[in-house]
Amino acid sequence: MGYIQFILLLLQVHAVFCNTEKIIFLGPSEVHIPVEHPTLEDLKLETLSPQQWSLRTHIRAEFPTKSSKYGQASWYLLHGLQEGQRYEVRVCWAATQPTDFRLDAYTLQAVFNTPELVTSLAQYLEGRQPDPVELEDQEPGITKWSAKSLESTLFLQVLAAADYYTMNKTLMEHVPPVYADIILDPYFLNVFPRSLVPTAVYIVLLAIGSWYLAKCISKWFQTFAQHSNDKKKKKS
Ligand SMILES: *[C@@H]1O[C@H](CO)[C@@H](O)[C@H](O)[C@H]1NC(C)=O
Repeated sequence: MGYIQFILLLLQVHAVFCNTEKIIFLGPSEVHIPVEHPTLEDLKLETLSPQQWSLRTHIRAEFPTKSSKYGQASWYLLHGLQEGQRYEVRVCWAATQPTDFRLDAYTLQAVFNTPELVTSLAQYLEGRQPDPVELEDQEPGITKWSAKSLESTLFLQVLAAADYYTMNKTLMEHVPPVYADIILDPYFLNVFPRSLVPTAVYIVLLAIGSWYLAKCISKWFQTFAQHSNDKKKKKS
């Protein structure tokens, strides 16, 4: 196994520490977004951008039904993306809340042209209860957008289906929201997630270090073996 494969394997291992689900996509081309009301900002969706790349939130979930096979939908906005840049969005949640997540990223156009998606978005906006703290606090987590009208923007749809069985009736009737992190991660050189670059550098340094160490040790053994050989010859 080459070092590169080894590093890639370790990067995979890194992702296993929490439950994760992810999608990988390219930044879409910039489109004109409305700067007059109603704007995207008026939707008051929680947003992620390369500057604000992590969001800790409660995601509502439900048991799958006939009409919603993949559970409850939540909507977020990804903005300030760069056209053609590869990104990954991850959801990380604790194993103590067994949930099936499904992530989809849609362009504005795709959402507004698809009745089911518009309905899903509208239902999400309606079903949200305004958080009293957020109302007081001028909505943290909701970015004030620059007045730029050209933006590379995507809608992120997160579908969460509860995946457990318990004798507790309350828990079977009301699925508690899943406490989760949503992370937007641009790919370094479009090859691997930027957040894993420090790990990769560390592993490369470790690999180089251990190679030198192995070389030193083998040299030491060689000299040692030669030395004892010489001694044997002298004795005989
Ligand atoms: C059921 O779960 C809820 C929420 O975790 C808890 O408050 C309640 O005490 C549990 N009920 C029983 C009967 O265990």
